[in-house]
Amino acid sequence: MGSSEEAPEGTVENLLEQDTLKWVFVGGKGGVGKTTCSSILSILFARVRSSVLIISTDPAHNLSDAFQQRFTKTPTLVTGFSNLYAMEVDPNVEHEESLGSDSDGFMSDLTNSIPGIDEAMSFAEMLKLVQTMDYSVIVFDTAPTGHTLRLLQFPATLEKGLAKMMSLKNKFGGLFSQMTRLFGVGDDFGEDDILGKLEGMKDVIQQVNKQFKDPDMTTFVCVCIPEFLSLYETERLVQELTKFEIDTHNIIINQVIFDEEVVESKLLRARMNMQQKYLDQFYVLYDDFHITKLPLLPQEVCGIEALQAFSYYFLSPYQASIARGTVEELEQRVSILREQLQDAEAELDRLRKGKQKF
Ligand SMILES: Nc1ncnc2c1ncn2[C@@H]1O[C@H](COP(=O)(O)OP(=O)(O)OP(=O)(O)O)[C@@H](O)[C@H]1O
Ligand SMILES: [Mg+2]
Repeated sequence: MGSSEEAPEGTVENLLEQDTLKWVFVGGKGGVGKTTCSSILSILFARVRSSVLIISTDPAHNLSDAFQQRFTKTPTLVTGFSNLYAMEVDPNVEHEESLGSDSDGFMSDLTNSIPGIDEAMSFAEMLKLVQTMDYSVIVFDTAPTGHTLRLLQFPATLEKGLAKMMSLKNKFGGLFSQMTRLFGVGDDFGEDDILGKLEGMKDVIQQVNKQFKDPDMTTFVCVCIPEFLSLYETERLVQELTKFEIDTHNIIINQVIFDEEVVESKLLRARMNMQQKYLDQFYVLYDDFHITKLPLLPQEVCGIEALQAFSYYFLSPYQASIARGTVEELEQRVSILREQLQDAEAELDRLRKGKQKF
């Protein structure tokens, strides 16, 4: 095990120890466990920080499912905690409300000409709000990869929008504001308003952008599973993050099937061997990352209790419980088989009874 001393520790302890950390993004492919991992990270941070906020920027929110508590777009205290808050924001809805959703409108044409400007504006507004709230650390549960990367590009998108609006304003002057009024955008949301909004966001954008690029304050945690597509996507993500100068040095590999005596099925064994191939590749590719492996559980990770229990593997690397070929292993196998037999008998019983009714 001599060489493992060189490799970074396989836990998320490094994140919890980094006192200066303010923004933690959690991202990865769809369904790999981003919401589960970000929820658990927020719970772990709540143990060591004064106040923690977890934000979901995924339009298909599932923080509510993970915590089994309803959240809205304002921070709500998570039940059972005194310093952990959660909120779910939808990057798209706000824009539709504020800029009007008529797809033929002049303003709509304008915003369409700068892709992502609407989303970027609501993200910036949300960050502006969160900045004033003074949380010690903010964890983002992001939507699948493409969306996250778009959000991280938001300062550039907004600057482009601002420049475009300015040049239009200079070109057309008063005519521009008359047109916006004429084409259905009322006084309360004319070009001045949008310009004003963009201008007002400039400081926050610059400040947040600086913080996002500061590895002391921001990091991105990549969540994945040991499969080809996920490995491939992680590599793409890491490269994009490097391009945006956003720090990343933690990878969580979820749904790992460990070589345990309980793995009796041929299917699971085959999948385990497949996973091992990709796990090896992760370790080769990311030898300077903290790689945390999480076991695939027989059930979902729902509710605070389940999250708390699963958080164990974030702090201590998973170890197969019993060695193969021992009395303990055989005992466990027998008890599993007994349970399976009981389940099958109960099912058979149910089916027979059901049949009698008809
Ligand atoms: N290690 C695990 N073992 C068993 N179930 C898990 C594990 N990790 C996550 N799950 C379950 O898998 C489902 C998907 O996880 P989760 O919602 O965290 O993924 P996600 O990446 O956020 O998905 P999406 O891309 O849809 O937002 C959830 O029901 C969760 O409880
Ligand atoms: Mg999710």
